[in-house]
Amino acid sequence: MKKKKHLRSSEWFGGNDKMGFVHRSWLRNQGYPDDYFKGKPVIGICNTWSELTPCNGHLRDFAEVVKRGILEAGGFPLEFPVMSLGETIIRPTSMLFRNLASMDTEESIRGNPLDGIVLLTGCDKTTPSTVMGACSVDLPTIVVPGGPMLSGRFRGEKIGSGSMNWMIKEKQKKDGYSDADFNEAEVCVARSIGHCNTMGTASTMATMVEALGLTLPGFSSIPAADSRKKLFAQLSGRRIVDMVKEDLTLSKILTRKAFENAIITNAAVGGSTNLIIHLTAIAGRIGVDLKLDDFDTIGSKIPLLVNLKPSGTHLMEDFFYAGGLPVVMKELEKLLHKDTITVNGKPLTANYTDAICYDNDVITSIDNPIIKEAGIAVLKGNLCENGAVIKPAAASPHLMNHKGKAVVFESMEDYHNRIDDPDLEIDENSILVLKGVGPKGYPGMPEVGNVDLPEKLLLKGVTDMVRISDGRMSGTAAGTVILHVSPESTVGGTLALVKNGDVIHLDVEQRKLHLDVPDAILAARKAQWKPPEPLATRGYVKMYIAHVEQADKGADLDFLVGKSGSKVDRDLH
Ligand code: FES
Repeated sequence: MKKKKHLRSSEWFGGNDKMGFVHRSWLRNQGYPDDYFKGKPVIGICNTWSELTPCNGHLRDFAEVVKRGILEAGGFPLEFPVMSLGETIIRPTSMLFRNLASMDTEESIRGNPLDGIVLLTGCDKTTPSTVMGACSVDLPTIVVPGGPMLSGRFRGEKIGSGSMNWMIKEKQKKDGYSDADFNEAEVCVARSIGHCNTMGTASTMATMVEALGLTLPGFSSIPAADSRKKLFAQLSGRRIVDMVKEDLTLSKILTRKAFENAIITNAAVGGSTNLIIHLTAIAGRIGVDLKLDDFDTIGSKIPLLVNLKPSGTHLMEDFFYAGGLPVVMKELEKLLHKDTITVNGKPLTANYTDAICYDNDVITSIDNPIIKEAGIAVLKGNLCENGAVIKPAAASPHLMNHKGKAVVFESMEDYHNRIDDPDLEIDENSILVLKGVGPKGYPGMPEVGNVDLPEKLLLKGVTDMVRISDGRMSGTAAGTVILHVSPESTVGGTLALVKNGDVIHLDVEQRKLHLDVPDAILAARKAQWKPPEPLATRGYVKMYIAHVEQADKGADLDFLVGKSGSKVDRDLH
């Protein structure tokens, strides 16, 4: 006879002693019958719902649907909140708090009587933060991605929820937009529940978790407002109960091969550069060795198969109608590892054999890709000893091999003060260098790397220039933007030593980023360099600055890397 699986929750609820009484008794104030505490798998629904995270505003509703599935499968659902990060709201940048939210998730899971976890995610950081936290506990876990918004429409034009941000300044200046125009554009962009509807960071994260095997197949590209999203949420609730019975933990799914599949898939969908930092941090938590160079080695030669904004023309709603991620996975079948297991217990590629493409303008075949080699390139050179990244698919071909003189901004404030100064010496061949926006420097590594070009060049019709920084870039942005320079300027990386007029050579094909300044001069500048005063004297931010790792390592806190499992040795008393 098959032995009944020992449930972790029975350590709280199973005892016929004082503590068993305490653990059950207080929960029963919600009216749960006693059989709920007798061997039902307890499933925690980790909810990132918040009215301050508009992209996740529907997740309370979704939690109820997930509960339906859990109850149907014989589980006992208990929903709990964790810190939620609203990309467009929270200051100074959501990335500063990703690791804090991951700690919240980790400790909330470990400290409670949970056997399996459903992560309700949506806006950019709410996916990596919760997955990171869950990895450090390593229970059976399934992800319910909240889904993208429906397409925006403004005056007959289809618009992406993030892409419009980059156009609006230009429209104000060039087309003389009034307040009324501005207001109208505002309400047309984000017109339904869900997260950004381009292949920005949120869609990239949803794609990532599906490619890793952490969602039911086909779930990630369904729009939030589509009834099938709720259907999949309910099925996820059913499935997690079985995952507990099968002891299908995260570490059984998240193997090195699963991470390689995520890198390949990200390249094929033209995903955000933010994938690098989050996937590296997740790998660090689960104990998989993933290096910055892997993103280039594994991903850079992968073809682009989807025509989605910000680099293409369509939106996530179109992607879903064209067949969505299942079609991409089917096209990638020969390139993906076939034996990685997914939350439904099946190998990844076996999940997509029936996928059909309904619109070749949105998803192309692998034999006729939009770009032959689309993945992220990792640059090396004396300007970024530990690496920097560029997304060639979003950059301008004429700038891929470019030499130019640096125009340096010491901080974001310095940039804002001087970028539109008519006397600023700058032309389209210059290279904009922005310092002080790395993990420790800002702090929190904001998405500012794709800074706007100076107004006088915009008016001349210049649309792109090389920009270099230790910051990140929004997944909805594009341009010849070199990001994640490591080590960052604040810790004395060579980026800190760049001066106005220095010549910088970018050669993407050779993966080179070089500061043409003799070593002796750089050494003299380094001797003069003084680290900036830390920007926080107390609280979480002080701890973050002291412990955050550099971008090439995923910008996790050094003491959070790895996992400590689900065991808690001591009880309340
Ligand atoms: Fe939430 Fe873009 S602002 S996903």
